[in-house]
Amino acid sequence: MEKLLIVDDSEEIRKQLKWGLGRDYQVLLAGDGEEALSLFRKHRPRVMTLDLGLPPDPDGASEGLRCLEAILNEDNTAKVIMVTGNEERENALEAIQRGAYDFYSKPIDLGEVKVILKRAFHLAELEDENRRLHKKALGEVAPMGGLFGQCPQMQEVFGTIRKVASTDVPVFVLGESGTGKELVARAIHAHSLRKDATFVPINCGAIPDNLLEAELFGYEKGAFTGAQTRTQGKVEFAHKGTLFLDEIGELPTTLQVKLLRFLQEKTIQRVGGRENIEVDARIVAATNIDISDAIAQGAFREDLFYRIGVITLNLPPLRDRGEDIMLLAQMFLLRFADEFGRRVKSYSADAKKVLRRYNWPGNVREMENKIKRAVIMAEGAVIEAGDLGFETNGSPQTMTPELSLDGMTLKDAREKVERDMVLMALNREGGNIAKASEMLGVSRPTFYDLLRRHNLQGAAGR
Ligand SMILES: Nc1ncnc2c1ncn2[C@@H]1O[C@H](COP(=O)(O)OP(=O)(O)OP(=O)(O)O)[C@@H](O)[C@H]1O
Ligand SMILES: [Mg+2]
Repeated sequence: MEKLLIVDDSEEIRKQLKWGLGRDYQVLLAGDGEEALSLFRKHRPRVMTLDLGLPPDPDGASEGLRCLEAILNEDNTAKVIMVTGNEERENALEAIQRGAYDFYSKPIDLGEVKVILKRAFHLAELEDENRRLHKKALGEVAPMGGLFGQCPQMQEVFGTIRKVASTDVPVFVLGESGTGKELVARAIHAHSLRKDATFVPINCGAIPDNLLEAELFGYEKGAFTGAQTRTQGKVEFAHKGTLFLDEIGELPTTLQVKLLRFLQEKTIQRVGGRENIEVDARIVAATNIDISDAIAQGAFREDLFYRIGVITLNLPPLRDRGEDIMLLAQMFLLRFADEFGRRVKSYSADAKKVLRRYNWPGNVREMENKIKRAVIMAEGAVIEAGDLGFETNGSPQTMTPELSLDGMTLKDAREKVERDMVLMALNREGGNIAKASEMLGVSRPTFYDLLRRHNLQGAAGR
């Protein structure tokens, strides 16, 4: 049974609706905004009715509107039906403007309510279906383990992945930061005969040199202080599977020698051990440094490069991928709209222009972050150029720390981005509030509110 949340401060009305609708829906009841929000978070109903007049403002609309906003912030696809008194048409329209799905006026006519609810659930279902289809269509453009790309360079990359996947030869993936090297390594593994064994990534640049050897090759009990028990290294973990050596350019030369020996002999010795242990692991390595440069400077052994670089895969920078830029931008938009439950569907012409013109030094990863932010910031169904957080000259706006899913809620992210947008607009307009508010598309009182809320009064009027 579909869940239906009913929010009304009158117990009589709650009872009446539960009695009238309990056979068609699993009815959840809330008497105020707070209760409504916590039930909503817990049960995620697709449709709800919301009394406009809730305590502490049972005769006005402020609490109903506040609750509406909070709900849509949680999930922009929720269908919220406002319930209003007879004299409140204007407030009801205001609620619609703010994203409510529909409204009806008291006194309640059960037959009428049922029709409206049925329609709302039907629409919610159609929208879900639509999102599913979108996802499926995207899956068909990216059959290669989530790697999107239609441009000739990427098609060539995919062709190579298909050819080498079934062999055991090492692969060296080269490309600027954020071009998808790890995703490619995973795709190679996923298309290989080793796909049911583990894919073991190790970031050679992230582990201190003195620990790296033990991390890679493991150690015997007593090999060094703190070596309490015999421990396997990453290479051994990857037995029968794939070992992904990320940032291999950072590997100290002593370990380069050890790795080379492993590649030649297929055996390793743990730190402090004598035994030769046979390991069958496929190596995929990656780096974003210029490896021929590193070889010329003696920082990377040429013989190791020839061993690992039997097949090299060059990932093109995003700026050279032509229409893939828009393909990826659209894919991320749908992905994040879905993830955050936003209604966003497309880009304005200006936003597209900015996306195409920008030079993307951080490549796909940077685009992913920018679009995540834009989806969170967008007010309507269309992402505008301003939502993307670029300066007009196309250089990146660096004020916002990277958005992250770790320890950052949607609310934190919105706060952060909102504050930065206000600051950017003020900077651009030399502190002129009239112009800055116009630029952000908000009224002057709203802009003053924003300044107060983010403690930015000092930034205005310079
Ligand atoms: N062609 C692509 N299609 C879809 N997503 C992609 C593509 N390329 C990269 N991504 C996404 O971009 C992000 C960065 O990719 P990945 O971590 O593989 O890059 P990288 O080259 O290893 O970056 P770094 O050098 O910073 O380690 C990931 O979230 C990845 O899913
Ligand atoms: Mg990486």
